[in-house]
Amino acid sequence: MGGPNPQKAASSSQASRALEKEFVGRTYDDFLFRPQAGHVSTRREVSLRSKLTQHLELELPIVSANMDSVTGVAMAQTMALEGGIGILHRAQSIEAQADAVARVKRSQGYVVEEPLCLPRDATIREAREFIRKHRITGILIEERRGKRQLAGMLSNRDIPWFEGHDSEKVERFMTPIERLVTAAQGIPVENAEQLMFEHRIEKLPLIDASSRIQGLVTKKDIILARQRPYSSKDAKGRLLVGAAIGARGDFLERAGECLQAGADVVVIDIAHGHSVVMREAVEAFRSRFAAVPLVCGNVGTAEGALFLLDLGVDAIKVGIGPGRGCRTRLETAAGVPQLQALREVWCAVGESVPVIADGGVRNDKDIFLALVCGASTVMLGSMLSGTDESPGRVIEDPGTREKRKIYRGMTSPQAVFEALYDESPEDVDAGLETPAEGQEMQIPYQGSVVDILHRVRGHLRSAVSYAGEVSLARVREQVLPHPLQYLIPLSEAARRESYDR
Ligand code: XMP
Repeated sequence: MGGPNPQKAASSSQASRALEKEFVGRTYDDFLFRPQAGHVSTRREVSLRSKLTQHLELELPIVSANMDSVTGVAMAQTMALEGGIGILHRAQSIEAQADAVARVKRSQGYVVEEPLCLPRDATIREAREFIRKHRITGILIEERRGKRQLAGMLSNRDIPWFEGHDSEKVERFMTPIERLVTAAQGIPVENAEQLMFEHRIEKLPLIDASSRIQGLVTKKDIILARQRPYSSKDAKGRLLVGAAIGARGDFLERAGECLQAGADVVVIDIAHGHSVVMREAVEAFRSRFAAVPLVCGNVGTAEGALFLLDLGVDAIKVGIGPGRGCRTRLETAAGVPQLQALREVWCAVGESVPVIADGGVRNDKDIFLALVCGASTVMLGSMLSGTDESPGRVIEDPGTREKRKIYRGMTSPQAVFEALYDESPEDVDAGLETPAEGQEMQIPYQGSVVDILHRVRGHLRSAVSYAGEVSLARVREQVLPHPLQYLIPLSEAARRESYDR
């Protein structure tokens, strides 16, 4: 696992390579990739496996941004199911963020370890609300609230759909334990499946000898796991999820609660990651959570990356100002063109620590360029935020009937206002006094993020094939030491020919 790693820290004193001058001032639209002789017969067999941190790998090297218009529970679940990962944003109370982490962890896996329960004297009204709130299809019923003593199960089917029963107790409608099929904790998945099929049931509660609830196996989760062998999972088969924290105030408490809820990786995300604030935050974090995978950013220079490497972080997030909702470059002149930043960082740290390219991706080809110039994974914000899975509603323009969703920078006045209004209304005025470096915009609604990820996966595989390799890992191995042998700098005319459509 992570932790301050003397070897990693020492590597920063190794000679870094010099940034190739051709990358200075360059970004995604400045290069094309020179096609190589192809070796794959079907693109489906191309592996895109890549490192998120030193010890966590993803089958799809895509990370959804920790923004309140991008990653909530639904996005994080879908990202992990599709082989990427979502980082839950921190513009919410610690309790709400930890609850979101728990919901992602609980949503999949062969065994739901701490299934949600209601006591037998709960009302049907309570059960209905519970099911809606937690988006589950059945509830385990316990003898007494919090005692985890199984009394029965109440499924959606058991709940009267007509009026008049709201005040009645769930015990009247549940299947009692005597009639339930149950199993012991630790039952192998195959046996659980067999048992569920024999009895034609979709949920199998796991209990100990004294009927205490130990878990729940669901048919849906088993099937989903089989359909998506590429999903990002932990050792227990639960979806991977990350949590963003700040660098000040209650950030350690936030980290603690999110880790307790099951977060697999923590992201300390601040606008200027090459700073004393970051140093103090990482030192404090490490003294409490030495072994937790820690991603830090953002930086955009070799010096910033070496600074984070020396602090012993497990991945470096790179991007100063390329984000679509971001105004930092416009307002402060601070920033590094994103491809230069990625290359500069890779030249400084090499493969000693994975790099996350954060922001500025507008087309799928940008993702490939990021990956072959230095990044191991790519964080997306606006590209994913017009989807069903992102937080927020679809709005329809009454004039054009176009459907849109809101995307906004996390330092936009709207995002700052909402985060503070919920948490500490007395700080709203002070928060809004800091001039914004982010903006809000409407972007076209695009349906499910699953379709976008499917497209990205296909285009990345295609790009690997054009690069003459069978896996992303092999392309990176070939290209990273000499990218200029593979990249063609574009003239204005070539750019028009390539991109004007
Ligand atoms: P894309 O281009 O994928 O970028 O939409 C997502 C990234 O943008 C960053 N971000 C901001 N940067 N001010 C900034 O300077 C902001 O208000 C802001 N909000 C988000 C962030 O790194 C995100 O992942």
